[in-house]
Amino acid sequence: MNSKNKIDKQDTILKELKKYRNKDFTFSSGHILGSMCTQPHPIAKKMYMKFLETNLGDPELFPGTREIESKFIQFISELLNAPKNHLGLIGSGGTESNITAMWLAKQLTGKKEILVPENAHFSFEKIASLIDMKLVSTPLNDDYCVDVNYVEEKINNNTAAVVGIAGSTELGTIDPIPKLNDICKENNLFFHVDAAFGGFVIPFLKKIGYNVPDFDFKLKGVSTISVDAHKMGCSAIPLGTLMVRDKRWINKISVDSHCVSSDKQAGLAGTRSGGPVAAAYAVARFLGEEGYKKLVKQCMNVTNYAEDRINEIGLCLAVKPTMNVIGIKLRNPFKVVKLLTDHGWKVNEMKRISCIRIVLMPHVTRKVVDEFIPDLKKTCIKAGEI
Ligand SMILES: Cc1ncc(COP(=O)(O)O)c(C=O)c1O
Repeated sequence: MNSKNKIDKQDTILKELKKYRNKDFTFSSGHILGSMCTQPHPIAKKMYMKFLETNLGDPELFPGTREIESKFIQFISELLNAPKNHLGLIGSGGTESNITAMWLAKQLTGKKEILVPENAHFSFEKIASLIDMKLVSTPLNDDYCVDVNYVEEKINNNTAAVVGIAGSTELGTIDPIPKLNDICKENNLFFHVDAAFGGFVIPFLKKIGYNVPDFDFKLKGVSTISVDAHKMGCSAIPLGTLMVRDKRWINKISVDSHCVSSDKQAGLAGTRSGGPVAAAYAVARFLGEEGYKKLVKQCMNVTNYAEDRINEIGLCLAVKPTMNVIGIKLRNPFKVVKLLTDHGWKVNEMKRISCIRIVLMPHVTRKVVDEFIPDLKKTCIKAGEI
């Protein structure tokens, strides 16, 4: 094919793909209100492209990218007060981190029951079927946080792990992690904290003066923590981190890796791109503590503003927001979600608690809230909610 033909062919393909992309919602429009992801930071986009061909599944071919990965893990370990002997595993997101954590718990304990709060992310259901573990669901209190008395009651000889959530998918609530920590320490249990969303929020909320519970490795009973950079870390998809208290545990989820340059490979993935890792590290370096503090403060200001506006139109919140997630109680959330979609807004239905959920990610500004509220009011009147 001559070069003119090549260019023509590329143009044709580009046009074809653009046509599909134009069918998507975009974060930049502000109309995605129900996602825990956001527009990647500009530096993430650049670095992702630069590291596109790298493969961290074959680290000796890409020692530089491997160093970047170590630096990013170091950043997360400081964020979470990880002990000296910690280890970090980078994966595709919260689902992979939860699977890996429960796999580790099963391997370390030889047991199969996981005590999981009722509002846990659905990835735990995948775990139950994938690695043959039994989920024991623990009920919540009126504040939508797990009831620690039930957790204590349900511990038995088969318990492999207890899970606490620091930033729930439904409402951004934080379980009483310090109390769960005490229970796990007392009973010598593996304790996984799912902070996929909250990991990039809670440390900065604390630093700007919010009263939020401890959730990290400062609590000596915490075994693993999951944190996603592709959520409030503002980096590119896919980037999840599983932090593990003791690096010696890794042998339990490692295999000999014959056909690549390293002797052993831990975790689920084989070939995995260094692109998202370079992107996440670049964002962390660029924003740093001050940048993330500012971002979290901005998201909380917009959350408080949205909360007031929602109350003004006569709707009720499920619970006072702990972080930048709002649940609006409705009789028929499905109908409202559908009507809002007709107006070009994407919010999510939280079926279990009869709510719609709005996540005030960095792309959701006050201006967006001002545009959204009249449409929300209209749809709720039409749906008979107000
Ligand atoms: C608390 C929590 N854990 C895990 C996940 C799963 O994350 P991912 O979709 O990145 O796999 C989510 C997703 O929203 C979440 O909110």
